[in-house]
Amino acid sequence: MDVAERVGREAERGGCPSVDVQSMDHFDPNTLPTESTVIFVVSTTGQGDPPDTMKVFWRFLLKRNLGSSWLEGLHYAVFGLGDSGYQKYNFAAKKLDKRLQDLGAKPIIEKGLGDDQHPSGYEGALDPWLMSLWKTLNHVNSTILPEMSEILHPSMNKLEHPKFKIMYHASNEVVQHDSHISDLKDMKNVIERARSMSPSLHGHDHGEPHYLLKMVTNKQLSKGDDGRDVRQFVLEPLASVVEYQVGDVLEVLPGQNPAFVDVFIKRCKLDPDSYITIEPWSGERDAMDSYVNGSSDHPIQLRTFVSRAMDVASASPRRYFFEASIDNNNN
Ligand SMILES: Cc1cc2nc3c(=O)[nH]c(=O)nc-3n(C[C@H](O)[C@H](O)[C@H](O)COP(=O)(O)O)c2cc1C
Repeated sequence: MDVAERVGREAERGGCPSVDVQSMDHFDPNTLPTESTVIFVVSTTGQGDPPDTMKVFWRFLLKRNLGSSWLEGLHYAVFGLGDSGYQKYNFAAKKLDKRLQDLGAKPIIEKGLGDDQHPSGYEGALDPWLMSLWKTLNHVNSTILPEMSEILHPSMNKLEHPKFKIMYHASNEVVQHDSHISDLKDMKNVIERARSMSPSLHGHDHGEPHYLLKMVTNKQLSKGDDGRDVRQFVLEPLASVVEYQVGDVLEVLPGQNPAFVDVFIKRCKLDPDSYITIEPWSGERDAMDSYVNGSSDHPIQLRTFVSRAMDVASASPRRYFFEASIDNNNN
């Protein structure tokens, strides 16, 4: 989604009149012929397979009854995320590109292929590819992208306005739901609520975790003298049986050091004990109906939100964080 969101931001900056960034599993493939321009960002997983979020869309696109002119009104571009260390390098993007052409869609530019092996990662290919995409779109149909100069030399006050507003409430104004976690069920509810309120996680997962696990073994396997720390963790489910199939990926949501969380919040000049609600700005409300559900009615403690929905100690900030920081410092 990082790359798709960047494409969306740059298109908005270039004055594109209507931009909608969606995960493929939220997009109805039946409506594809009614679109005029679509930019696809597609990673490859497994052995040259499309990612889970693309599977339904891909299966639909392979239907035999779709003729060679089904997408004749569509202009598209594909950017793939892959790793040339794999034999089936960027297969999902290559197959999607081919199938779209077979169905009559017209490529705006040649597909771009991001490669984890590039010294700059996928951005090594993405930066020039995006520039070429914007130039072509502006040249071919300037109503789609009228303000090319805003992409080449963004004016500092033009980074798009925030999509969400955060309201702060003093702790004594709020009925406190999450300060006394008495059992694991409470804990699971609190984690789910924090994660469902996070704009960056919304649409990504659906209020996970599915299971709470207890760590019963944490054994260091490496000697630690070469700077590496390799460990064996044994995790046991607490309440329910964990069901999985071969090929499933275990995503672990680790806890965070409470001291780091407090330092982070204080560095943002905020009060960890305060409560917050998060709401889309009015213009975004329609698109985010499902998000608003309940999030504004029940404030959550800032400390709980940061510790359950963010990663303050180890996540590297996204590129947009630096773009926005530069913008902030210049204003
Ligand atoms: C389990 C796994 C399988 C992968 N298989 C392929 C592959 O077959 N071909 C390829 O080009 N890249 C493959 N990759 C690399 C990913 O496509 C690449 O890291 C990409 O940037 C991941 O993007 P995403 O995290 O947004 O899905 C694989 C990565 C993983 C973790």
